Amino acid sequence: MKRQQLFEKAVEAAKNAYTPYSKFNVGAAIQLKSGRIITGANIENASFGLTNCAERSALFSAYSEGIRKNDIEAILVTGNTKNPISPCGACRQVMRELLHPDTLVILTNFEGFEKEVTVSDLLPYAFTDEDLSHDE
Ligand code: THU
Repeated sequence: MKRQQLFEKAVEAAKNAYTPYSKFNVGAAIQLKSGRIITGANIENASFGLTNCAERSALFSAYSEGIRKNDIEAILVTGNTKNPISPCGACRQVMRELLHPDTLVILTNFEGFEKEVTVSDLLPYAFTDEDLSHDE
C-alpha cells in the first residue's frame, strides 16, 4: 500500500466536500487490494442530520460499485483537526458493518499526523448482524 498516495487522495477528496454549514471538510480514501483507491467527502444538508460523512460517502461509493469488505485493505480519513480525526459514532457503526473488524483504519489530520486503529478498536461491543439472527 502506498500510504502517501492514499493520504493525498483523501486530502484531494476533502476539497470536493459540500460543507456550506460547518465549512469543515473531511476526506476519506479506501485502499482496495487491487491497488485502486476510492474516495469520499462529507456532503451536508440544510436538514443537518442528513449530512453524510466522508467515511460513509467513500464506503457507499465502493459498495455501489459492487466492492465488498474482502476487497478492501484499509481506509484513511483526514480533516483539519489538531489530532488525527475521530470518526463519528454513525460512521463507526457503518464501518463495522461494511468492513472486516480487523481492517486497518488510518486516522490523520491535514498535517499528516497519523493514528492507526482497526474497525473493532473504534466500536467495541458493537451491534451486528449476529445480534439480529439470535435464536433463529
Ligand atoms: N465529519 C466527517 O465527514 N467525518 C468525520 O470523521 C467527522 C465529521 C463531517 C460531518 C460534518 O459535515 C462536518 O464533518 C462537521 O461535523
